[in-house]
Amino acid sequence: MVAEGGSRYCSKKTDDICGDEHSIRTLSMSRLKCIIRGLDIKASLFLLMLVPTCFFFIYMHGQKITYFLRPLWESPPKPFNEIPHYHHENVSMENLCKLHGWGIREYPRRVFDAVLFSSELDLLKIRWKELYPYVTEFVLLESNSTFTGLSKPLVFASNREQFKFVESRLTYGKVPGRFRKGENPFIEEAYQRLALDYLLKQAGIQDDDLLIMSDVDEIPSRHTINLLRWCDDIPSILHLRLKNYLYSFEFLVDYNSWRASVHRYQSGKTRYAHYRQTDHILADAGWHCSFCFRRISEFIFKMKAYSHVDRVRFSHFLNPKRVQRVICTGADLFDMLPEEYSFKEIIGKMGPIPHSYSAVHLPAYLLENADKYKFLLPGNCLRERD
Ligand SMILES: *[C@@H]1O[C@H](CO)[C@@H](O)[C@H](O)[C@H]1NC(C)=O
Ligand SMILES: *[C@@H]1O[C@H](CO)[C@@H](O)[C@H](O)[C@H]1NC(C)=O
Repeated sequence: MVAEGGSRYCSKKTDDICGDEHSIRTLSMSRLKCIIRGLDIKASLFLLMLVPTCFFFIYMHGQKITYFLRPLWESPPKPFNEIPHYHHENVSMENLCKLHGWGIREYPRRVFDAVLFSSELDLLKIRWKELYPYVTEFVLLESNSTFTGLSKPLVFASNREQFKFVESRLTYGKVPGRFRKGENPFIEEAYQRLALDYLLKQAGIQDDDLLIMSDVDEIPSRHTINLLRWCDDIPSILHLRLKNYLYSFEFLVDYNSWRASVHRYQSGKTRYAHYRQTDHILADAGWHCSFCFRRISEFIFKMKAYSHVDRVRFSHFLNPKRVQRVICTGADLFDMLPEEYSFKEIIGKMGPIPHSYSAVHLPAYLLENADKYKFLLPGNCLRERD
């Protein structure tokens, strides 16, 4: 096959050399030579084009390639022990506890909701309004440094008057950033979470109080917290499985958000964390809305302040027009592939997230104030430019 192809090139392009044939022996020798020479020019031209193209492709899509091949280099985490979740407003608490295999208490536990705040004022309001009826003390810590060591204003401190409704139940703390250059962002994050442990003690948390550990944008539903404060033998640590949304409640990604957790506080033992701490997880326990911001500038700030800074591979990712386009199509801000552990899931989730038109069972305060929070509801992808 190669010889044939080669000799065809030869006869076309190097006739003068190849046409000169003496004997069978020299014929095959010169043929071989000219095949090689013909290949040479073509092949080197080809390689000259191919090699830079390959490098360019790998440069542009290197992370995508490794993500796509993830099932080959990483096995999935151990599956959770899923606890079915029962709820209806017309079923008594006693029966709800019983359905979960738990008993009912004589009085409810106290509940502490502790968050590390960055700048997500809108979601904080929705969160606190959702949890307000059942939370004893709201604990909020903010720093003048992002996890990636960028300086940030104390956004909560300068907007505190918007949160008068929690003032009597609020423990607020500030922690100064350490601003170490070139450090792994997880170290600053761990440091801030440690400061939150101290703030919780100041807030008066005691053994067997419920402690919610979650980011501001991971919002447990009110009835979930009510169930957990009333029922007796709930696990001492329980993850919450949340519906996972991106940009707004119009884009339901999956049901796989699991980082939020609820703890029965044990002094000296409970540490504020945001990783996997147990195998138990309660189904359908709330909402996780990532990148659910009102302003384009907030998206850009979050993209830069995010723990995985390496994701902003190209500066055009931060172009406001591009960000707006990505939000409206439900595409990925970092142009990445889904982080999944099987080819079936990766391929199934490739491309933009389908639109959802359900605004049923969302946080009550959001629907009561739909005008103010329009950007979180289906059909309102345009964001404020400032
Ligand atoms: C459900 O409960 C509400 C009050 O909690 C009550 O007004 C209503 O009649 C109940 N509905 C049914 C069908 O039991
Ligand atoms: C951060 O806050 C600390 C303490 O309030 C202050 O000393 C420091 O100058 C601040 N740093 C920046 C960059 O704002």
